[in-house]
Amino acid sequence: MTLDDIRALDRADPLAPYREKFELADGLIYLDGNSLGPMAKTIPAEMAKAVEDEWGRGLISSWNDAGWWELPVSLGAKLAPLLGAGPGQVVVSDSTSVNIYKTLQAGLALRPDRTVMVSEAASFPTDLYITEGAMQGREALTRRLVGEVGASLADVLDEDVAVVLLSHVDYRSGELYDMAKITRQVHEAGAIMIWDLCHSAGIYPVELDACNVDLAMGCTYKYLNGGPGAQSWIYAAERHLGNIRQPLRGWWGHAQPFAFEQDYRPEPGIKAFLCGSQAILGMRALSAALDVMADVDLTQVRAKSMQLTDLFIALVDEQCAAHGFGLFSPREADRRGSQVALTHADGYAIVQALIARGVVGDFRMPDILRFGFAPLYISYEDVWNAVATLKDIMESGAWREPQFAVRAAVT
Ligand SMILES: Cc1ncc(COP(=O)(O)O)c(C=O)c1O
Repeated sequence: MTLDDIRALDRADPLAPYREKFELADGLIYLDGNSLGPMAKTIPAEMAKAVEDEWGRGLISSWNDAGWWELPVSLGAKLAPLLGAGPGQVVVSDSTSVNIYKTLQAGLALRPDRTVMVSEAASFPTDLYITEGAMQGREALTRRLVGEVGASLADVLDEDVAVVLLSHVDYRSGELYDMAKITRQVHEAGAIMIWDLCHSAGIYPVELDACNVDLAMGCTYKYLNGGPGAQSWIYAAERHLGNIRQPLRGWWGHAQPFAFEQDYRPEPGIKAFLCGSQAILGMRALSAALDVMADVDLTQVRAKSMQLTDLFIALVDEQCAAHGFGLFSPREADRRGSQVALTHADGYAIVQALIARGVVGDFRMPDILRFGFAPLYISYEDVWNAVATLKDIMESGAWREPQFAVRAAVT
């Protein structure tokens, strides 16, 4: 492929106009939307309105007049089409880690006669820590990790398994799991399937209802561009609504919060997953971010994402072959999410050198360079330029400069 071919792809790209909607410096190649998405240009005005008008002038009346009280549900409704979920099945609140806890406990409560949780040894650590924590004080409850107890899911599934918690896309390798097939397999074993969609929501046409998923959750600050630490979402299959039991029983999940009853009665729908008051300002940023996504066609996003990641891998193979990189992601585009992970013993310094030249990726231990390709603001020419920069850094040895070896707290 030549640069002319690449530019022709950009000219024909139906998603190209979206880049303008985000605050991104000219020339910046932001390949870290799999960690923190950029800010939509509409957000400062939205935040000013929320702060100055709604909080500043509206004060307490804004809970009703500005729709603050309904935000968990109204944001859930904005998200639902991106997740293949029907109405009333998604709420936004709390963090992903907290929502993993809630969905895990709700899944266990749906299978009270079973005692095993299944997850994967290579999961994002928070998923593992939450399952580990769930065992505290519950001696009968045990955990089996794929990759530790057995090599595959089939090896660890049996009639004792209550819940299976897996990530749709692996946070390190970017491997994409077959949601429909795995959910079917888990149901055949009589267990509840819980998906962590942190790395696929907003970038992949997820079909939670069609895949018959029981419960799911994910963050909104990656490909949904909701802002640093933005609230997470929870999904439940319609058949489970009315039977949601989770231990973080707060008044927002009560059937009648303003009756101030002494005893807890869960709201009969998805709001049973709510706990207490939310950071409304964060939700207002997320709301504006989701408005940008409202008319996005995720099948177009997926098609471009596969092309971008294929192009990156092909160019790295072609231009950086002499520099000792390994490919940690699956080579087949249909087995990958929207990120490509390379390995290199000097990965940390190489990523820092790239960042210094305006190509932003990140690093994960022990030797993984991660590059996320968000089709709403990454062009084919960006991919071309990113690999040219990588090649130059390797050939010139620029990555060896001492400042690039200094480790920051966030890598
Ligand atoms: C797969 C996965 N699950 C969970 C989390 C953590 O979520 P939070 O820090 O929002 O609680 C992350 C964060 O990157 C993640 O990648």
